Amino acid sequence: MKLDRILSYAKILLTKAVSPGDIAVDATLGNGHDTVFLAGLVGDTGKVYGFDIQDTAVQAAKDRLTQHGLLARTELFNQGHENILEVIPANLRGKVTGAIFNLGYLPGSDKMIVTKADTTIAAIEQLLQLMAPEGIIVLVIYHGHPGGAEERDALLDYCQSLDQKTAHVLQYQFINQQNNPPFIVAIEKK
Ligand SMILES: C[S@@+](CC[C@H](N)C(=O)[O-])C[C@H]1O[C@@H](n2cnc3c(N)ncnc32)[C@H](O)[C@@H]1O
Repeated sequence: MKLDRILSYAKILLTKAVSPGDIAVDATLGNGHDTVFLAGLVGDTGKVYGFDIQDTAVQAAKDRLTQHGLLARTELFNQGHENILEVIPANLRGKVTGAIFNLGYLPGSDKMIVTKADTTIAAIEQLLQLMAPEGIIVLVIYHGHPGGAEERDALLDYCQSLDQKTAHVLQYQFINQQNNPPFIVAIEKK
């Protein structure tokens, strides 16, 4: 298949946005796959801030980063991403070049612990204050689980209402696949 799959396309967007020395955010650590990817992009001189409300996820991400020798490039918080502004130092405002949200539940974990529209939107609003011009927020929207459709619809409403003078908003989605496949909404700050 020549078309980029959803997770590959998320990586392509992050690779365009994030360079060595930059600040990036993994808003949903889970098992830390995206954190490892972002830590590779920011290099030795950059930093990845990561958030998850499950301490088991934070520990799993820490273990994965340690295995890859990348833990020192990260600051991980067992807190909701809706606290991003409180946690990320004020002097980094305007310096975040890339962020990712992998929404829904953590595979292999409690399926009742899911991301929710109100906290996801609060985090995006805060991130938009922290992003550099041309910084990209990637939302990977899973919507097949209970509560997933509500989060999807609220996010689409919110993202469509973002002023085109302040952000470019893209939707990337396969439209003929069965079983509610995930799709991407990407927000590039102007
Ligand atoms: C789909 S998983 C993330 C998968 C992860 N990217 C990976 O590489 O394994 C979603 C994660 O979001 C977390 N989560 C739910 N609500 C959250 C919130 N308000 N802030 C931060 N993380 C949250 C869940 O605990 C879960 O680990």
